[in-house]
Amino acid sequence: MTGNILLIGGSGNIGSALMKTNTLANTFFISTSRSRRSNCIELDPSCDKRLEETVKEHSVSMLVLLSAISSVDQCNKAPLRAFDSNFILPSSVAQCAYRLDIPLVYMSSEYVYNGYISGAKDESADNIGPSNVYGCLKYASELVVASANPKALVLRIPKVYSVLCRNSILQVAISELSFSRKPIIDIASDQFFSPLSVEDLAIILRLINKSNFSGTFNCGGPQSVSRHSIYETILSLLGINRILRATELSTLNIPSFIPKDVSMNSAILYNRLGFIPSSFDEYALQHVTAID
Ligand SMILES: NC(=O)c1ccc[n+]([C@@H]2O[C@H](COP(=O)([O-])OP(=O)(O)OC[C@H]3O[C@@H](n4cnc5c(N)ncnc54)[C@H](OP(=O)(O)O)[C@@H]3O)[C@@H](O)[C@H]2O)c1
Repeated sequence: MTGNILLIGGSGNIGSALMKTNTLANTFFISTSRSRRSNCIELDPSCDKRLEETVKEHSVSMLVLLSAISSVDQCNKAPLRAFDSNFILPSSVAQCAYRLDIPLVYMSSEYVYNGYISGAKDESADNIGPSNVYGCLKYASELVVASANPKALVLRIPKVYSVLCRNSILQVAISELSFSRKPIIDIASDQFFSPLSVEDLAIILRLINKSNFSGTFNCGGPQSVSRHSIYETILSLLGINRILRATELSTLNIPSFIPKDVSMNSAILYNRLGFIPSSFDEYALQHVTAID
């Protein structure tokens, strides 16, 4: 029988949304935080002993490492701090998981890819080419996690969205479209990604908890979509009158270290799991309602 999934750093954007997918009948996700918070076990992930105790006390069968500085800006501004949390910490948790012989899923990012290669990228090393400190550390940490723990599973995840998230591209787009005072809204039509819903990520993690494999996999949504097409989809569902102008990223005030196209082809993982996540359009159709 599989046990619970311990979300290390589950107090954050993705973890707190994953926790909301627990049902009364099935509690799979348990969350930790370095601080005392409701709904979280207090745990410093760099402390092996506390991690070991927590695994035993809570019947944990898989660890998911979410702790990180996930802001690209913050990593650029404080690279040494980012090195500690996004490289040293994953390496230490990977070693601890190996010693405890407990499966580990490490969350990497679409930002490891070269954002100037167009089209959905597969896992090939030819596609690697991070353009900022965050992406470089994610790639370096993938390598150190795999070498410290050959049983670890690394998932390159994309922009994750959900109505369950405090903050995701879904909420940002709804709020910008609903409250902007600008008559015309400029949105990049040449920035592409493969967004994945938190609800699908929860299913994927539960499937992984029942299986046993290691390696590095893309874990994106099934579509390669532009930011502009995401906004268009939401605008049509909200039923409000706004003009969206398709604009090139280079003409918007976006720093050059933000990659253009980090869309991914995740077929290898989904063939293995026998699962296909929903597209952004399908999800939005179910969850975004018109404003009266
Ligand atoms: N959000 C996305 O769409 C997205 C996309 C691609 C990849 N990812 C990756 O997925 C993982 C989770 O993302 P997220 O958006 O949920 O992250 P998040 O909310 O920014 O952070 C997750 C948790 O990391 C811990 N943390 C923050 N700063 C830390 C530091 N300096 N040292 C150690 N722990 C620290 C915090 O937990 P405490 O309560 O313990 O302080 C925080 O709640 C990250 O590795 C991120 O890079 C996310």
